[in-house]
Order: sequence, then structure tokens, then C-alpha cells
Amino acid sequence: MDYSEIIQNEVETLLRQRIGLNSESIGAQAILRAVKKGMRQGKMQELTDYLASLRTSPALFDALVESVVIPETSFFRNRAAFVFLRQWVANKVASEVASEVAGEVASKPAHRPLRVLSLACSTGEEPFSIAITLLEEGLTLDDFHIDAVDISASALKKAQEGIYSPYAFRRQTYRSGDKYFDLRVPEGANTHRKGSRITQRYFLIDSVRQKVSFHQGNVLDPMLLEDHLPYDVVFCRNLLIYFDQAARDRTITLLDRLLKPGGLLFVGYAETELINIANYQLVPYPQTFAYQKQLVPLVGLEKAKTSCLQEV
Ligand SMILES: C[S@@+](CC[C@H](N)C(=O)[O-])C[C@H]1O[C@@H](n2cnc3c(N)ncnc32)[C@H](O)[C@@H]1O
Repeated sequence: MDYSEIIQNEVETLLRQRIGLNSESIGAQAILRAVKKGMRQGKMQELTDYLASLRTSPALFDALVESVVIPETSFFRNRAAFVFLRQWVANKVASEVASEVAGEVASKPAHRPLRVLSLACSTGEEPFSIAITLLEEGLTLDDFHIDAVDISASALKKAQEGIYSPYAFRRQTYRSGDKYFDLRVPEGANTHRKGSRITQRYFLIDSVRQKVSFHQGNVLDPMLLEDHLPYDVVFCRNLLIYFDQAARDRTITLLDRLLKPGGLLFVGYAETELINIANYQLVPYPQTFAYQKQLVPLVGLEKAKTSCLQEV
């Protein structure tokens, strides 16, 4: 192992410890490119200088994080998850309305506002797809609350702008004149230069854009969202695949703290194998990759049964 490899290993260790990244998931070359970019930005010639600064300078470390995270996302990614979410919300609302009619719910029904979290939301396509899904199901803007968290400041800035290229929808066609987007050429775009393509952008309407509260945060931070109430639905998709086992375990502990009993946890298609939590049941619908947290923890079930029998 040469000197630069030793230094690179140190960078990989730092990334693993601080943001959970398993460098094998993106490849050693990607890390090396990010290190070189950081050295250029910091005007440093020596890897040793870069490494010393990386440990002490939050700005330098944040710049490295921006270079190594994978912001890949799109609107309605894995559409089956959104179809299932819509059906689940419809059932939840219907059962709560039925309880209300039967006089079982004296005060505000539990679904209002429905609390949803998009953890590792990237540039916003996921939380905005959730908002559109809930509106399409007939919920009003007051009926739900969506928080969205990511470590990348640049991804969050883009998310808050709510302006997307047609590619953000991938192969799913989105109609011009859609009620959630205005399709237009951004102000200041150069449409006069010879040969320049007029690039239209989808501008998300303000009411939906403002409905999502974006927060910068690291899932390895044990205090993350500590002052927030638990959620009915948590999306944590395509994050665990980039993590080492220790970071996955910490994230799963966090998800369990954040999700209400009876709530839904959505993961990515390659991540169902990684979730092995007692008290969670895989939703039996194809391509959904969702789990339902049990209302009664299985570990407490025996105790609960015994006390019920005693009461009888
Ligand atoms: C592949 S994107 C997933 C986006 C979206 N959930 C989806 O499935 O379409 C992964 C995101 O995780 C974020 N991320 C990586 N490490 C993180 C960490 N430790 N804490 C919070 N976000 C992180 C990245 O910035 C990136 O935006």
C-alpha cells in the first residue's frame, strides 16, 4: 500500500464514521476524485495537508460530502409505493370516519394531520410526490404535514426551489398544464443565442412547494428530529444501500424511534433484505417494499396477554 492509499483509507474511514458511507458502494475512484476536487478547491498540494484540514474544517468536510453523496431520485420513483400509500391513507381515513360516526372518537381524528417523513429526500422529488399523492386522495393541505431531511445542502437548496427538468419524471409522461406544475422557460434563460435549445422547466406550485418542511440533518445524529412528534409514514429509500452495517443499525434504531406504532416504513427495492426488525411486517403487495410497524410490540405481547387474562 503506497502513501496516498494510506491517506485515502483515512478519508474513507472518516466518511464511514461521520456519514455512514461504505466506500465500496460508490468505489475507491469516486472517493479519489472527490479528494482531488477538495484539494483543488482548498488550493492544497499535499494530501497530508488536506487530511489534516478535513478533520478540523467543517466546510472542507461538507464539500467532500457534497462530492460523494448520490442524489439520484425522481418523481413517483417506484410508483407502486405511491399507489399503496394512497390506498392505505384511504383506508385509514375511512376507518376513522366510521369511528367518528359511531361516536368512538370524541375529539380530532388521529389522521389529521397525517405526519409523513422523507428521510434522505435529496432534491425533493420524493416528498413532493408524497404531497401530490395525498392531495390526489382528497386530503386538504391542512390534513397532512411533511418533513424532509437530507445531509446535502445543495440538494436541499434545489428542493426548496421546486423547479425541475422533464428528466425528473423519467419515462413517466407529465402533462403540460398539470395542476401541480407550471411548465415554462425560466427567467433569464438565454433563448436568443443561435443554436440554443429552449429548455422548459416544471415549476411546482407554491402551495405544494411550501407544504414540505426541509431540514438539513445526518441520520447518524442521535438527536435528529428529537423535538418532532413521531410520524405515521416514513420513507427511507435508497440510503441504507450506501451504508456499512454499523450505520444501517443506527439508522434502523432511528427509524423505529421516529415511526408511530401502526405506521408505515417504505424502503428501497434493494433494501428489504437489510431490514430485519422484530415488530415490523412486510406489506404483502408486490413492488411496494413497505413495512407496517406492529401496534403492540411483539416483545410486550405475552405480558399484555397475561394482564388481559387477569382482567377477565
Ligand atoms: C439516492 S438518494 C435517495 C433519494 C430518495 N430517497 C429516493 O429514493 O429517490 C440518497 C440521499 O441520501 C443522502 N444522504 C447520504 N448520507 C446521508 C446521511 N448520513 N444523512 C442524511 N442523508 C444522507 C444523500 O445526500 C442523497 O440525497
